[in-house]
Amino acid sequence: MAEKKKSSYISGKESRKITKFNRKVTKKLEKERADANKDPNLYTTKMQDPDNVVEFDNVCTYFFSDVGVVKAVDGVNFSIPKHSTVGVVGESGCGKSVTSLSLMQLLQRPSGQTVGGEIRFNKGDGTAYNIVNTPNVIMEKLRGNEISMIFQEPMTALNPVFRIGQQINEVIELHNPEMSEEDVKKRTLEMLELVGIANKEGVYEMFPHELSGGMRQRICIAIALACSPTLIIADEPTTALDVTIQAQILDLLQNLKDKLNSSIMLITHDLGVVAGMADYVVVMYAGRVVEKGTAEEIFHHPAHPYTIGLMKSKPVVGQKVDELYNIPGSVPNPVAMPDYCYFRDRCDRTCARCKGEYPPEIRISDTHVVSCYRYYDEGTPLGYPKSVNVEELL
Ligand SMILES: Nc1ncnc2c1ncn2[C@@H]1O[C@H](COP(=O)(O)OP(=O)(O)OP(=O)(O)O)[C@@H](O)[C@H]1O
Ligand code: SF4
Ligand SMILES: [Mg+2]
Repeated sequence: MAEKKKSSYISGKESRKITKFNRKVTKKLEKERADANKDPNLYTTKMQDPDNVVEFDNVCTYFFSDVGVVKAVDGVNFSIPKHSTVGVVGESGCGKSVTSLSLMQLLQRPSGQTVGGEIRFNKGDGTAYNIVNTPNVIMEKLRGNEISMIFQEPMTALNPVFRIGQQINEVIELHNPEMSEEDVKKRTLEMLELVGIANKEGVYEMFPHELSGGMRQRICIAIALACSPTLIIADEPTTALDVTIQAQILDLLQNLKDKLNSSIMLITHDLGVVAGMADYVVVMYAGRVVEKGTAEEIFHHPAHPYTIGLMKSKPVVGQKVDELYNIPGSVPNPVAMPDYCYFRDRCDRTCARCKGEYPPEIRISDTHVVSCYRYYDEGTPLGYPKSVNVEELL
């Protein structure tokens, strides 16, 4: 106990040193980001595969906190193909939301910063942006128009003091300043109809508290889709809803995605939701991707011991068990990650290689990639995730 207390204790001197360092780094990064006249060559890029909407390439997003640097997302690699739904799963705190907020550049700043890697976004007109370096003025045009987000809690996502119509109008007006007032209202009513609101004229005049949870989430979807975005990020879109409404909202999202020809990044810790909707699945653990593949591969042939554990801990209808499986142990401290496999202390399948550094990504089929030494001989090692040395940022 005394040992534990000692290891997490930060002296006044250390604390001042951390604060000084954080201030210096974040000030420098913020200054670079705010530069509206940046050379476009610094933030335009080329997609590795033009059939992808987004490519996360060794993305590192860190929080410069009072207790040290939290490596919330550290060397994340995965892509979202055009017109597909990609599910991102993993336990609480593994970095799912931070990954999506990095893509929107909506991190809590100045403490949260993407300090390494590329997030390539395919605008569809032949331009690809590296979101990590894109200045705020361009991001304002991409957000809403090209990439939009549906949040977890519809009550807090909507403004309680404005009528529903006003809130949808505002988004349409902001992104289409040339539209007349009548056209904006027409578009808002169309959106309300599209998301399945029967009494659209009535709801247009209502306040959020007059609607049910399911209706509010439909309104949030209407706001997110008002500008027909190329990519919809849905962060736990159904967690606050009961099961029957959940199914309706997911069906609605899937239908709208097909209608608008968009892609969806679906973040959830509900494996049932992912199984029903996603084409591809990305499994995250402690800020890194540990496995990715098609939904069929991840659900029927999981390879990483963590994914296997996740699948085992899922209740199965018709199967009687005394106790649901749970993965023993807990996630390592994000301020001081180990230099070996992050899952090793909880893993029941370790081999001799696991004593070494963090495992590389290993390709085990055209679409299936896993970061685990057990597949080192049979698969093709691709590369190691690369952390950023924060001292070098200055
Ligand atoms: N503003 C912040 N300041 C410091 N650390 C943060 C901040 N936001 C997130 N983190 C840390 O980043 C890590 C990843 O958080 P994130 O919100 O992405 O988790 P998540 O996978 O979305 O979890 P959940 O399923 O609970 O939503 C966590 O360790 C969290 O403590
Ligand atoms: S690399 Fe080793 S410790 Fe890590 S998940 Fe695979 S078997 Fe377990
Ligand atoms: Mg989250």
